[in-house]
Order: sequence, then structure tokens, then C-alpha cells
Amino acid sequence: MGSLIINMSPWSNWLTHLPFTQKITGSNPVGDAIENIYKGITMTDYIGKLNANAKTLGDDVYTVCEGILNDKRFPIWSGSSKSNQHHYGKGGLVQHTSEVIDTCFRVKALYEHKYEIDSKELFLSAFFHDVGKMHDYEPIMNQTVHNANDTTDYTCETDYSEWTGTSHKRSIHHISRSGIMWSENARKNEGIYDEYFEKVLHAILAHHMERKNGSPVAPKSRVAWILTLCDNMSARMNDADTWDILDRR
Ligand SMILES: [Fe+2]
Ligand SMILES: [Fe+2]
Repeated sequence: MGSLIINMSPWSNWLTHLPFTQKITGSNPVGDAIENIYKGITMTDYIGKLNANAKTLGDDVYTVCEGILNDKRFPIWSGSSKSNQHHYGKGGLVQHTSEVIDTCFRVKALYEHKYEIDSKELFLSAFFHDVGKMHDYEPIMNQTVHNANDTTDYTCETDYSEWTGTSHKRSIHHISRSGIMWSENARKNEGIYDEYFEKVLHAILAHHMERKNGSPVAPKSRVAWILTLCDNMSARMNDADTWDILDRR
């Protein structure tokens, strides 16, 4: 009975299977190639696990995630445009996204004896929260310039080791773009759209907590709070040695 809480959650069964956050090694990841931080785990592994997670939650969830999972930018994109900020470098976005999902479901498991937290709402919120970063950042090219907003095959002359911000970051920003991308993909399944559209959109829009950080609204649901706090946790654990909140730029 001591493990009752864990056993009650279907998601907990998934959590016992290879949560990547248990495999972190290395002490100063920022600025390094992200794929070197997780020994033996490749970007393909991340995508494969996210695919499996979405399918575990149902065909409806997979249907609305499929477009992002198949986006050729997603496995290689950076999580930041500045080398001192969290998850900078090739593959940083998918690593951060996977880590946030893992952490969100650990928190859900902690509280599920007390609060009912919807797994689909939580997964979709965490999965989509930063996908707009594929428009905010672009790799610095060695030879060929490409439009980062191009969603077709992405090929260019770069090793994806150096990244910079785009004009989109200033004019639209990833929070708004993630909301737009969620909206576009949510329409692919009527059931998901009807039940989750606004709940997930709220969590996405609120995940930077305050307007000064880029969020138009503050968190006002448990899922939105879990996402906000786990997002911050993933970010700060990654860049605590290189980024100072008192010197934010
Ligand atoms: Fe974000
Ligand atoms: Fe994030």
C-alpha cells in the first residue's frame, strides 16, 4: 500500500520507463552541444519517446502532436539565442521540452492523491509550450541563408552550433507563436479541440508567469502553474552557472 499513489497513475508506469531527466550528466551544459550532455541519448531518442508518450495518451493526442513531431526543425532547434541562457545549442529545444514533460508528470504524481490533474491537458501544454521558439531563433549560417519560418525540409550549411535571435522574437515572440501553433494543430482533432483548446492555450500563454517576462496572462489553473514552475525549474537548473536573473537581457 505504500506505493498506492504511484500505482494509481497510469502515467506513473510511463515514468518508470526511461525518464531522461534521470540520466543527466555533465556540470556546465550551456554553450556545449546539447547532445553531448545526455550520454547515449540522441535527438532521435527524444523524438521517439515523445512519439510514444503522445500515443500512450491516445490517438487524439498523437494526431495533434504529429505535425510538430515530424517538423524537421524540432529535433535540432536551440532552446535559446544566447549562449549563456538555458538549452542553447543544437537539440536544446527538444531536450528542454522532454525535461519539462518529465518534471510536470513527476509533480502530477506527487499531488494526484489530492488534486485531479488531467494528463492530456498537462502533456499538451508542456509539449506545445515552447514550439514557437522555432520561429524565435535560427542557426548562424556558414554559407546559405534560410528563412527560419520555413516549415518544409530544412537544410543549410551550418553545424547548428551557433544561434541568434530573429525579428520574430521581438515582434511576435514564442509565447504567442506557440499559442498559434497549438491552435492550428488542435483543430486536427475535434474532441481535443472541444475539451482542451482554451485550457492548453491558457497554460501556454501563462508559462512565463508575468507580462514583463512575455506572458499576456498569469497562471490560473493547476496545469498552468505546474507548467510555469517546471519550465522555470528546467531553465534554471540548466543555466544557473551562466545566467543571472538580476542581469536579465
Ligand atoms: Fe517559453
Ligand atoms: Fe520552456
